[in-house]
Amino acid sequence: MRRTVKEFRHAKGQRLVYLTAYDYPTARLAERAGVDAILVGDSLGMVVLGYSSTVPVSLEEMLHHTKAARRGAPDTFLVADLPYLSYATLDRALFAAERLLKEGGADAVKLEGGEEVAEIIFGLSRAGVSVLGHVGLTPQTASQLGGYRLQGRRPEEAERILKGAMALEEAGAYGVVLEMVPKDLAKEITERLSIHTVGIGAGSHTDAQILVFHDVVGLYGEFKPRFVKRYLEGERLFLEALSQYVQEVREGVFPSDEHSF
Ligand code: KIV
Ligand code: NA
Repeated sequence: MRRTVKEFRHAKGQRLVYLTAYDYPTARLAERAGVDAILVGDSLGMVVLGYSSTVPVSLEEMLHHTKAARRGAPDTFLVADLPYLSYATLDRALFAAERLLKEGGADAVKLEGGEEVAEIIFGLSRAGVSVLGHVGLTPQTASQLGGYRLQGRRPEEAERILKGAMALEEAGAYGVVLEMVPKDLAKEITERLSIHTVGIGAGSHTDAQILVFHDVVGLYGEFKPRFVKRYLEGERLFLEALSQYVQEVREGVFPSDEHSF
């Protein structure tokens, strides 16, 4: 049964599980594994499209993948990322959200930023769009943050992230992703908010956790940030299988009579 946004809004301490998924097979697997929510993250730019960051991802690309993920997971709450600059104004944000919700089949959208995006979130919420916030390391503007690194170590930076998260709650967000912040800061933010927090690289005190599908199953090369736990050596296993196929065709082992008519 697909969860409702109301169930997430005050899901404090429930240890809900989010996972990204980007297409039919990955969303299908996520749903069968029993995740509480799927995020069609703009991380798809890196892990399935081969861009070097999330910046180039277009609304059309997000839509294409959101539709496919929805077909694979018809019964799971599904959040789609608004891509970089698609929420620079409220008009643009409403346009992008409309497409992802109505054509893509998403239940909610996510966008990055703190106090500076509160007004956009307020406008989306007032129009009836469920919004997930995202503070700490915000990949779309990572260059301005000095790259993909821990955020909120210095007290004034921690204060800015906390204030940002509180502004998002005030603006109507149903939850907030906390990415790459010290676990004590994530704990404090989680305690101060009445909406649920979703951590990635933010320790164990957030209400929910999220990881990137391809990181969990080892399908994104050698790169593994410290906060990722790789549960499968996917690339190695896939490579073994594919190499065997190549070899068996060349040696005349495949197809055998069993695979012939
Ligand atoms: O795009 C993404 O996968 C994300 C999560 C890491 C939160 O934004
Ligand atoms: Na994202």
